Amino acid sequence: MLEFKRITQRPNEVAASLVIVGVFEERMLTSAAAELDAASGGVLKRLMESGDVSGRVGSTALLHHISGLSAPRVLVVGLGEQRRFDAPRFLRATRDAHKALKGLPIETASSYLTEVEVPKKDLDWKLLQSALAADYAAYKYTATLKAKPERIELKSVAFSAAGDGPILERASAVATGVRLARELGNLPPNICNPAYLAEQAHALARRHPEVAVTIVERDEMQTLGMGALLAVAQGSENPPKLVVMDYKGAAGKPVVLVGKGITFDTGGIDIKPAAGMEEMKFDMCGAAAVFGVIEAAAALKLPLHIVGITPAAENMPDGRSYRPSDVITTMAGHQVEILNTDAEGRLILCDALTYAQRFEPTTLIDIATLTGACVVALGSHASGLMSRDDDLANELLAAGEQSHDRAWRLPLWEDYQSQLDTGFADFANIGGKYAGAITAGCFLSRFTDGQRWAHLDIAGSAWDSGRKGTATGRPVAMLMQWLCAMV
Ligand code: BES
Ligand code: MN
Ligand code: ZN
Repeated sequence: MLEFKRITQRPNEVAASLVIVGVFEERMLTSAAAELDAASGGVLKRLMESGDVSGRVGSTALLHHISGLSAPRVLVVGLGEQRRFDAPRFLRATRDAHKALKGLPIETASSYLTEVEVPKKDLDWKLLQSALAADYAAYKYTATLKAKPERIELKSVAFSAAGDGPILERASAVATGVRLARELGNLPPNICNPAYLAEQAHALARRHPEVAVTIVERDEMQTLGMGALLAVAQGSENPPKLVVMDYKGAAGKPVVLVGKGITFDTGGIDIKPAAGMEEMKFDMCGAAAVFGVIEAAAALKLPLHIVGITPAAENMPDGRSYRPSDVITTMAGHQVEILNTDAEGRLILCDALTYAQRFEPTTLIDIATLTGACVVALGSHASGLMSRDDDLANELLAAGEQSHDRAWRLPLWEDYQSQLDTGFADFANIGGKYAGAITAGCFLSRFTDGQRWAHLDIAGSAWDSGRKGTATGRPVAMLMQWLCAMV
């Protein structure tokens, strides 16, 4: 975890291993850059005139040992044209600046980007976003890598800002939650299985005594009649766990978050193709996000009651697996015909959503890497949001905009519901070829009658694809923004 601080010293005199300043295109210096330029006898202006420093959005140039400055390094970041500078460009420049610090032998950095005016955004927004960008870039997955010799690592980042409000404490808490979600997501499925998630919930409760943990084991699931969750888990040697984390930061009815925790999704008997199957270790990123939110809320001592529920199971092909055409009975009493064993997420979620209602939630939100169809529709930039409740949907969309951890709404109209019809049960677990993200939402909607409920499909946003792609920790930042707006 990075440490975040505020500084009021000027960039030419600050004692840090590196100073970050911004420049616009057309040789326009920000005030911090102009101060460095003046203190160094015009170095920055000369570099802009020669074209070595362009000012294009997100471009970076690292300068060493400029005479007249206390810091041994200056990172100059391009902000683009001044008149077109806005929040997305601020974020892009900030993220690229912090990416450029990766691998440098520095312990401290001081950023003056927080001084740049961003239309419609205040200083707190700039501080929160900058701190989260810094920590996001500083995170490194190491759990299953050979230990590398000790190197100098970034420990703290200071941001130019007067005042002493609590926003950087909030940033630390959210960053801790994002890190936890990313780490759980990245761990391989032979380590991060349902029992491991249950252990991690206990570990979280040891860090935060306000969190009470209950694990619902297989025999109790049987007693409760969780036929859907049990059906998905029955092909695996790893028994399912329903993890309940109750963070009581306030009295009263809770917000309940339910996260899909498929620790590996082979597809089951409807097995997935080999190419890309390894990415299905990320199929527990909804659960990871719930862990992240509970961690962040507890670290922040948010005065809210929040319950996190993560049904955890592994979807495997086996002699004991559930099969296409099986009819199972859910905890809510609905009979469901399995028409594809790869549509397992909605099955573990439906029983968890039914279980969640014993807490009488004020709001119920599920988070799941639920459908490939959502990735086709929205790609990786937006999570899919579905809700029958317009107010709740708008709150979450707004929190997504504010945190830049964005969602986009898809309809949950009645018209789609008939795609789940079947002649052999109350309904089927798949809706056919079209609107796959929506019919998955329709399936879940049948288990959330009368609830103030929303569904977030994070199949596209929860991780970056490819051999070096890692979990993103989304939508922890969005949900924390939404929760913080409630207090
Ligand atoms: N975990 C997958 C969804 C997924 C696929 C997430 C690709 C991210 C990338 C989910 O369990 C699944 O397999 N869904 C099926 C549903 C289908 C059988 C109706 C899908 O999307 O293909
Ligand atoms: Mn699946
Ligand atoms: Zn899945």
